[in-house]
Amino acid sequence: MTVTGGTTVDVGDLDLPFVEPRDDLSLKERNERLQAAAADHWLVRSTFGYMVLHYDDSVAVLRDRRWHSAASMLPALMGVDDPEFVCRRRTSILSAEGDEHVRLRRLVGKAFSPRSADRLRPFMRQVIDDLLDHVVEAGRCDVATDICDPYPIPIICELLGAPREDWQFFSRVAADILRVFDTNLPEVTHLIVEASDELDEYTRRLITDRRSRPADDLLTALIAAEEEGDRLSTEELVMMVEAVIVAGTDTTRNQLGCAVALLCDHPDQWALLARQPDLAPQAVEEVMRYFGAVRATIRFASEDIEYRDIRFPSGTFMVAGLSTANVDPSVFEAPTTFVITREPASRPQLTLGAGIHSCLGAALARAELQEALPLLARRMPDIAADGPVVWKPPTTAIFGPQHLPVRFTPGAPVRSQR
Ligand code: HEM
Repeated sequence: MTVTGGTTVDVGDLDLPFVEPRDDLSLKERNERLQAAAADHWLVRSTFGYMVLHYDDSVAVLRDRRWHSAASMLPALMGVDDPEFVCRRRTSILSAEGDEHVRLRRLVGKAFSPRSADRLRPFMRQVIDDLLDHVVEAGRCDVATDICDPYPIPIICELLGAPREDWQFFSRVAADILRVFDTNLPEVTHLIVEASDELDEYTRRLITDRRSRPADDLLTALIAAEEEGDRLSTEELVMMVEAVIVAGTDTTRNQLGCAVALLCDHPDQWALLARQPDLAPQAVEEVMRYFGAVRATIRFASEDIEYRDIRFPSGTFMVAGLSTANVDPSVFEAPTTFVITREPASRPQLTLGAGIHSCLGAALARAELQEALPLLARRMPDIAADGPVVWKPPTTAIFGPQHLPVRFTPGAPVRSQR
């Protein structure tokens, strides 16, 4: 991030193309426009400030601590001025910066280890098998509503240590809390406030219970987490539970939906995964690279920043183009080819982010997809579209199918096979 050659230009003085995230374009058209722009430019103008399109620049922005998360600013950017909603927003791990964020990541990091995600793998298989039991005999279903939507909540409940009878409660409050990603946010803030209050109250009761009766779950691990005598306060524990719901449910269900839709279009790859479930880890990386549910993320300059001889004034918004970075030909060979046996590139796909805010639940997210996809492929062989896919608007923060109707020849349950 140094200035070379001594000539620094202000970003506002540059003649950059404007790539507007239009909802009237299909995802394919939008991808084509972004990729065409990426062939000629590393930096473009976007609705919210600027956007970097290449892999190295996206990673550089996400790793540079002067670019701060804009997560807490999104409601204001979307026109929300409801005072109750605004003053109720607490600092979250998603938006904290500097020492505060470093401290939170240090305290909670261990509780999100690959080992704790692996512990839930048998449970994940059971959830998917149960969901499939409801639809498989009919030989057709809506993968988005029948499988993807209900999949993550039981897993988050099991992770946290919330009992089965509370799954319905979690689904309901999560659905309202996740309205924070709706495009009509100003109209639904009261629902978000009510649901957050209900969840807070529930979480406080669960914390009290776990303090007196520790269990083998995330909440107990977070309560016990200690670094040099430092611990999370009750407020911070409540915040972490909300963060897990906000960041860990819609992402997973949409990524699973994107994966199935993509594999539907590549029946040879679907059949290969059914035959060789051990390919799941590679398949999941390739699916997230080729078709990530989180297509971009936004930062703002906390001070004047100079990068590649360009000065970005304090307050500038910058979008890191994860989806275009994931098809950057300088990192991925034949990037527009989808193949689940792809050799790992020297650098990872970016759908789980990079830098200090990179996905805390990455191990869990990978495990959820790695367990779900081979089971789906084996119990829904010869899957094919059974009508048009209805997609969310391409500008939504977390993209995926709203409806994904498919038909298939029912496959046998695979409970005993893995
Ligand atoms: C396929 C599913 C998932 C995807 C694609 C995904 C993607 C991401 C991305 C891109 C970020 C970084 C955002 C940024 O830099 O602005 C992130 C952060 C985060 N994710 Fe995930 N995520 C997924 C699943 C999960 C799960 C299952 C959990 C928790 C159980 C989780 C918890 C978090 C948290 C807490 C953060 C904030 C970390 C921080 O700011 O320090 N995510 N995720």
